[in-house]
Amino acid sequence: MRKIGILTSGGDAPGMNPCIRAVVRYAMSRGLEVIGIKRGYKGLIDGDAEIMNMRTVSGIIYRGGTILKTARSKYFTEEGGQRKAVQNIKKFGIEALIVVGGDGSFRGARILDEKWDVPTIGVPATIDNDIWGTDFTIGFLTAVNTALDAIDKIRDTAVSHDRVFFVEVMGRTSGFIALWSGIAGGAEEILIPEVPVDIDGICERLERGRKRGKVSSIIIVAEGGKAGSSYEIASKVREKTGYDDRVVVLGHLQRGGSPCAWDRILGTMLGKAAVDVAIDGGRGVAVGIINGKVKTSSLKDAYEKKKKIDFDLYHLNEIMAT
Ligand code: F6P
Repeated sequence: MRKIGILTSGGDAPGMNPCIRAVVRYAMSRGLEVIGIKRGYKGLIDGDAEIMNMRTVSGIIYRGGTILKTARSKYFTEEGGQRKAVQNIKKFGIEALIVVGGDGSFRGARILDEKWDVPTIGVPATIDNDIWGTDFTIGFLTAVNTALDAIDKIRDTAVSHDRVFFVEVMGRTSGFIALWSGIAGGAEEILIPEVPVDIDGICERLERGRKRGKVSSIIIVAEGGKAGSSYEIASKVREKTGYDDRVVVLGHLQRGGSPCAWDRILGTMLGKAAVDVAIDGGRGVAVGIINGKVKTSSLKDAYEKKKKIDFDLYHLNEIMAT
């Protein structure tokens, strides 16, 4: 093994830069050359890449986003796009490819590995934390802290105005950000896609709270739930209770910002682990962390199996919020 490639793909996540830095510096310490591909699979198709060195990754450990840039490439889902990508991989002399991203990126990595015989290794990086085979994905805890910072601020104005606030957080189809930021923020309700929304139940609990003197509340809503957007849920609750409410959608704020200490450490650990897998001839796998130890699982399992929400934590909030 002489040369490896690295790309970041899908939604950016804070901690991708520390991971790129770790891949480059560790691989170079093991005598490998590293090619950085720009804008994920799009860059592979376009042949947009550069040789990385110690200096190209200096001063990036604290920066959000990804210096390699990222994209979601529709063309790569087609045979023609994949063929072009593989031609460029051969042209660059890349012998193993490290793909840093979420489930969609892992699907692409598996296609390259199985269908086109390009050894690939996945590193889980997405704010959603919805990748199986790892307790944490890179970016998740920074996003939780960003959401929490906003929730704390919203709490001030909610209390001052005796209002109910619906705060919508990201997560696509999983409730990890909602659950963690909701618990940490002392939310009165946490609505996650994994649990059906019970509008009557929410209204009853709000009424009960009012009777006990709780005149403001924060309801965290994970995007992508079957009950609709936070605006739709808020209007149903308003119709039944008449409470003064406001909706805040945190959106892409949660994707940016300097990675927290854990995301820097996780990015560094998993970047190094991915290089080790490549050197040892491993392929078609994703690295992850389980109970503090680095593990690997198949790329297919990583994106196909559904990582479960901690329902003990979910129910604990029901008690905390009373
Ligand atoms: O997967 C990360 C994520 O931020 C999801 O939480 C969200 O649903 C999605 O990406 C938004 O994607 P885009 O940046 O393409 O709008």
